[in-house]
Formats: sequence, C-alpha cells, structure tokens
Amino acid sequence: MKNSKWLLVTIIIALPFIMGPSEPVEYVILSWNDLGMHCSNKDFSTMAVLPPYNNLLCQVIRKGDASTMPVVITDGITVTYEVPGNTTSINKTNFWQYAKALFGADLGENVGLTGKKLSDYMDARAGYFTAEGIPLTPYTDNDLVNEDPFQLALVKAFDSGGNLIGTSTPVIPVSNEINCVSSGCHSSEQSILNRHENEGGFNPNIKPILCAKCHASPALGTTGIGEAPIFSYAIHKSHADKTSDCYKCHPGPNTKCLRDVMSEKGLTCTDCHGSMSNVANTIAQGRIPWLNEPSCGQTGCHSSEFEVNGGKLFRQSKGHGGVYCSGCHGEPHAIVPTREGTRDNAQNVALQGFEGTLKECKVCHGFVPNAPGPHNILPNKIKVINDFSDKFYIKNIYPNPLKTSSTIYFSIAKAGNVHLDIYDANGSHCLSLLNQYLLPAEYSANIDAKFLTNGVYLSVLKVNGETRTTKVIVEK
Ligand code: HEC
Ligand code: HEC
Ligand code: HEC
Ligand code: HEC
Ligand code: HEC
Repeated sequence: MKNSKWLLVTIIIALPFIMGPSEPVEYVILSWNDLGMHCSNKDFSTMAVLPPYNNLLCQVIRKGDASTMPVVITDGITVTYEVPGNTTSINKTNFWQYAKALFGADLGENVGLTGKKLSDYMDARAGYFTAEGIPLTPYTDNDLVNEDPFQLALVKAFDSGGNLIGTSTPVIPVSNEINCVSSGCHSSEQSILNRHENEGGFNPNIKPILCAKCHASPALGTTGIGEAPIFSYAIHKSHADKTSDCYKCHPGPNTKCLRDVMSEKGLTCTDCHGSMSNVANTIAQGRIPWLNEPSCGQTGCHSSEFEVNGGKLFRQSKGHGGVYCSGCHGEPHAIVPTREGTRDNAQNVALQGFEGTLKECKVCHGFVPNAPGPHNILPNKIKVINDFSDKFYIKNIYPNPLKTSSTIYFSIAKAGNVHLDIYDANGSHCLSLLNQYLLPAEYSANIDAKFLTNGVYLSVLKVNGETRTTKVIVEK
C-alpha cells in the first residue's frame, strides 16, 4: 500500500513516453525591458531632461528534450511588439512638436528617435532581439490623465513560415514623474531656466532647452559643451544639501519605480547607490554615470558565483546557456518576484507555474538534467531514502564540518512545496538546495562546499509554513 504513491508518480513521469509520437518543436519566448523604469518629460515646450524612449529585449529558445539541448536562436525568427491599449502617443505629450528643436530630428507622428513606433518589428542581434527607442507614454488610450507606469507589452515570435511560435508579456515601464515642479521644489520650469542665466552662454528665453546639450549625459549620448559639468554630477551635487529623497526626481512618489524582490525585503536606493553626494562624488572620481553602476557581486551583496559579466552591466550580462540575466531574473529594479505581482511576474508564472526566478529546468530543457544548471545549482539532487515518514526534521548532516561536500538527511511528514536553503551567520541567503513539491518521505540532498566560504551556516528546511534548522560548518 505504501508504495502505491510511487507507482502513481512513476506512471505520471512515464506518461509522455507511453503516449507515443514526439511533440512538435516548442519555443520559449523571454522578453523584458532593459532598465526596470524609464522616465521622460511630458511637456517639452520649456525644457527636456529625457525623451520618450523605451527599450525591449527578447530571446527565443528552441526547447530541448532528453536527447537535444535547448538553444537560443535568431535565424529564421521574426519578433514583433505592441502595447495593447496604448496605440498612440501624440495626444499624450507634445514631444513631436519640439523633437526638431531639441534633437534635430524630423520625426513622423508616433515615430521615436531611432525610428521605432509603438508597435513594430524587433531587430535581430547576436543571440537576441531588441527594439530601442519606443516612444511610449504612461497614459493608456482610455485614460489620458492618470499614469499607468507598468503597462504590459505583447511580444510575438514567428517562425520562417510566418507561424506564431509564442508570445510574452513584459512590463514596459515608463513614467512622467520628473518632479522639478510638482514636488513643490521649483515654482515653474521657467524659474529653473531663469536661475541658470549666463552660464556657458545659456539664454533662458531660447526654448526649448535640452539640459544634456551642454551637460554630458551617456543616457542621451551627449558629450557636453565647455565648462558645463556632467549632468548627473551637476544635478546630484547641487541638490545634495536640499534633499536625500530620490523619489523627488526619480519616479516617483506615485510610481515607486523600485519594486523588486530586494526592495520588498527593505533595500532602498541608497543601499546600492549611496547618497546623493556619493552619486555625484564618485563621478568626480572617475565613475561614468549610467555605465558604472552597482552590481550583484559587489561587496556585502551576493557571492562571486552570482556576479555580472566582467566589465558589463547587469542588463548586458548573460548567464546559463547564453540566456540574459534579465531573462530569468527580470530587469534591474524589477528583479522578480516584484511588488507588481501580476505584471512583472506574468512571464515566469506563464512558463513555470509560479512567480520568481525562472528556475524550472524543464521549461527550457523539457526535462530535469542530472547536472548543474544556472550558477552551478544542482537540481533535484535528492534521493528518497525511505518512502515513508511521519516526522518533520533535519535528521543529520554528514560530514559536518564539511570540506568538499556533505549529505543532508531530512524528512517531511506532510506533502508540500519544500524549501531547503543555506543561510550565513548574518542571515543572508547563500544557496538554494531545493524548492519543489515533495511527498512525505525521508530524503537526502547534497551540499556542495564549492559554493560556500569557510564559516558557520544554517540549513533551513521549510514546508507548509513550518521551519527546521541545523548548523553547518564549512572548513576547507
Ligand atoms: C548652454 C549650456 C547649458 C545648458 C543648455 C544647461 N546648462 Fe546647466 N550649466 C551650464 C554650465 C556652463 C554650468 C556650470 C556653471 C559653473 O560651474 O559655474 C551649469 C551648471 C548647472 C548646474 C550646477 C549649478 C550649481 O549650483 O552648482 C545645474 C544643477 C545645472 N546646470 C542644471 C541644468 C539643467 C537642469 C538644465 C536643463 C534645463 C541645464 N543645466 C542646461 C550650462 C548649461
Ligand atoms: C538592489 C540594488 C539597487 C537598488 C536598491 C537600486 N538600484 Fe539603481 N541600479 C542598480 C543596478 C545594479 C543598476 C545598473 C543596472 C544594470 O547593470 O543594468 C542601477 C542603475 C540605476 C540607474 C541608471 C539607469 C539604469 O536603470 O541602469 C538609475 C537612474 C538608478 N539605478 C536609480 C535608482 C533609484 C532612484 C533607486 C531607488 C528608487 C535605485 N536605483 C535603487 C541597483 C540598485
Ligand atoms: C534633484 C533631482 C534628483 C534627485 C533628488 C536624485 N536624482 Fe538621480 N538623477 C537625476 C537626473 C536628472 C538624472 C539624469 C542624469 C542624466 O541624464 O545623465 C539622474 C540620474 C541618476 C543615475 C544615473 C546616472 C549615474 O550617475 O549613474 C543614478 C544612479 C541616480 N540618478 C541615482 C540617484 C539616487 C540613488 C538618488 C537618491 C539618493 C537620486 N538619484 C536622487 C535627478 C535626481
Ligand atoms: C537560466 C536562468 C538564470 C540565468 C540566465 C541567471 N540566473 Fe541567477 N539564478 C537562477 C536561479 C535558478 C537561482 C537560484 C535562486 C532562486 O531560486 O532564485 C539564481 C540566483 C541568483 C542570485 C541570488 C543568489 C543568492 O544569493 O541567493 C543572483 C544574485 C543571481 N542569480 C544573479 C544572476 C546574474 C548576475 C546573472 C547573469 C550573469 C544570472 N543570475 C543569470 C537562474 C538564472
Ligand atoms: C531559460 C532556459 C533554461 C533554463 C530554465 C535552464 N536551462 Fe540549462 N541550458 C539552457 C540553454 C540555452 C543551454 C545551452 C545549450 C547549449 O550549450 O547549446 C543550457 C545548457 C545546460 C547544460 C549543458 C552544460 C552547460 O551548462 O552549458 C546543463 C547541464 C543544463 N543546462 C542544466 C540545467 C538545469 C539543471 C536546469 C534547472 C536547474 C537548467 N539547465 C535550466 C537553457 C536553460
């Protein structure tokens, strides 16, 4: 009797093989926005900090199976994007009226600075697709007044025969909350210009004025004119003694662009970027704004196993199988699972059935490979020791202290989604050994010392809201 559940599991696992003919080729479509938030001005008649300019990226993976590896493909594939419910920008900003004066660009209606429209093709690059400079506003067609900063785009991929092979719905975040005036700080945009008179030949009456025309900004690719300091330096330095609230200018008190898993655990802008003065002073010391930013593996954060690619930003880095970090984790400031549950998390929920990091091997591989996956994490390297248990505990870790690897023996008394994690002495998460639905039984799993430095750790077993812990010591 007690073996019957395993028989059932075996049948379910074997079902696809019993069922016969192989499935047609399947694809996984991953898409995301590069920054997590784009801001732009709404009214360009006086001054411009940033134009409407969103960037979407996409990777198409041909799914693998027991005999074939998944592969990231671009050949023969076309990808399109659109933003359902947001089909025009011309009644939502006066950007097009001033695009020529500000950027020297003669643009048709709803055409952005790179030629992209609100719905269009993505461009194929090596191993991915991209659409840069989408001129989106935060106003849907149905509400021209209230911002919806986290709209969903619809990305579609087609094979060479023009057949739809998959879709994805990334958030395409944009906000107009650049709050010089609405924050209550400046009385009007004109008053900002008036204060600036005579600096570097500045004339507050010749409008509109693009700040980055004189102040270098890598965001717009401008290199600056004359004495004007780098824009990010000028703005953060001159406001450092006036506010420490990043949302006074970055979107914003309503948008709250920072919504990722780390902010949900209490991290704020300054934990990663430092203070206003720090943002400015590091530029004076040689940091290039927009290009030299914090990274996952920086001191005090995650271990080097989880660092971005050398010399690159998170958004430019690739990990396991050539998949972009953002493909599995979401974009910077929106690392999943985020506060905007049904939106940022939609893609991974659609692919693997639950929110958070894309971690189910079978989404891409079609099965669970018996080898290390992303960040060398071993999937399901667990064995059933005894298929009966009425106890919930960590029975033993052997050997402990561990040199190279140890086995952790545990059992659960009730079925549920089981988490087995290793935390360091400060309570920081170090390793995820297991996150999967298990039936009651006694199990063993492997802890690989490769991922841990010397010290004292806690192994934490969690299921159905209950927790058991045991100390682990690493002594290499
Ligand atoms: C015509 C060129 C020009 C344009 C356009 C321009 N600036 Fe400046 N700005 C300068 C120069 C030059 C300085 C440096 C003055 C100095 O160091 O004495 C400066 C200084 C500043 C400072 C530092 C002032 C301080 O108190 O330290 C800020 C902030 C600033 N600009 C913001 C802006 C903003 C915002 C815009 C867009 C509305 C803008 N600038 C457009 C030339 C320009
Ligand atoms: C968990 C760390 C973390 C927190 C918290 C954080 N940032 Fe960032 N920020 C980053 C990283 C990492 C990058 C670089 C993105 C990349 O590498 O692609 C970045 C980049 C930026 C950029 C440059 C544009 C971009 O997105 O690349 C701006 C602007 C920015 N952050 C503002 C903020 C503001 C404002 C807050 C608070 C509301 C904040 N950040 C909170 C990590 C953080
Ligand atoms: C007074 C308005 C204002 C405040 C307050 C402000 N920022 Fe900014 N920030 C800006 C503007 C404007 C830019 C765009 C500069 C450009 O286009 O190059 C910017 C750009 C940035 C960037 C990207 C450029 C770079 O230097 O790498 C980062 C990061 C950033 N801000 C972080 C912060 C953080 C963190 C805070 C709060 C501690 C903050 N900012 C507060 C106005 C502000
Ligand atoms: C194929 C999917 C995939 C890709 C690509 C990927 N990761 Fe991960 N990442 C994971 C999984 C799975 C975990 C395990 C933890 C979890 O379940 O969230 C993880 C965990 C992490 C963690 C948290 C580690 C901790 O301390 O708990 C960081 C930081 C991280 N990844 C950074 C990156 C960076 C940087 C890149 C790109 C260089 C990247 N990841 C690429 C799947 C991926
Ligand atoms: C987002 C899609 C994706 C997910 C999720 C994913 N993989 Fe992969 N994996 C790939 C791709 C793409 C390759 C590259 C195949 C190639 O080399 O052509 C790959 C390669 C591999 C390889 C071959 C060696 C290597 O690292 O290149 C192994 C082993 C592997 N994956 C294991 C895993 C395991 C285990 C998991 C789950 C914990 C997993 N993968 C999750 C996409 C994925």
